[in-house]
Amino acid sequence: MIQFDHLHKSYGEGPEAHEVLHDISLDIAKGEVFGILGSSGAGKSTLVRCINLLERPTKGRVVIDGEDVTDATGARLAALRASIGMIFQNFSLFQQRTVLRNVTFPLELNHVSKAERTARAERLLDMVGLSGYGDRYPSQLSGGQQQRVAIARALANKPSIMLCDEATSALDSTTTVQILDLLRRINREMDVTLVVITHSLSVARSICDRVAMIDGGRIVESGRTEELFANPQSDILKALIASADAQNTRRADTGISEVR
Ligand SMILES: Nc1ncnc2c1ncn2[C@@H]1O[C@H](COP(=O)(O)OP(=O)(O)O)[C@@H](O)[C@H]1O
Ligand SMILES: [Mg+2]
Repeated sequence: MIQFDHLHKSYGEGPEAHEVLHDISLDIAKGEVFGILGSSGAGKSTLVRCINLLERPTKGRVVIDGEDVTDATGARLAALRASIGMIFQNFSLFQQRTVLRNVTFPLELNHVSKAERTARAERLLDMVGLSGYGDRYPSQLSGGQQQRVAIARALANKPSIMLCDEATSALDSTTTVQILDLLRRINREMDVTLVVITHSLSVARSICDRVAMIDGGRIVESGRTEELFANPQSDILKALIASADAQNTRRADTGISEVR
């Protein structure tokens, strides 16, 4: 369980300080796929970066599995980060390392033996559909394949939580569906709680159990995905749904199928 308890985040100090998250309280249950939906600049990345403390909250608490981690440092912080995988829009792979050595990297940091590192990385590459790709370099792979490598790397330390920050935003619609299927499978089969950040209504709709809509650093509404989208309360979500519907109608008219 991930809990945000009256969390605030400001960037800058003193008169320069600028609050970008305002009084966020939210519970994400173990094993769920939770979506954070909002437009660019809403504060989505800042919020999830407070989970693994890549950003420190200015006020309020982050509680994971009942433990207040807000001020974690040293070994406790390292253990927390090892238990949380993260993937990004731009994949963030090490270009100078092979696919296999991208996946073994977090295990090197954790001093896992070479034999065990290789065995675990090969199992993970197999799981994400990339067995036989270990010796390639990231630049030799498609975007979807690179994101699969990033997913394997994020899973190397057997995390209980995975943060996905616009993980499919750089991918075409077919690849997006494949990556979302993979993430769903990881959630179900490996019991990994997923926090999915997206600006895309269709991504939220297709993978999330529950969604929080964030706008201007505030949660404007949240709920079970179907219920939220069937009966939106906030102007921003209503507008987002109307614009997605209009786009899909236009695509239906032109015979192009629905995209992100
Ligand atoms: N390191 C930073 N320093 C100062 N301002 C930042 C920093 N990171 C993000 N911001 C600001 O915080 C707000 C929220 O950004 P972000 O969390 O990246 O939003 P999103 O992920 O929803 O696009 C934006 O106004 C952004 O400019
Ligand atoms: Mg962002």
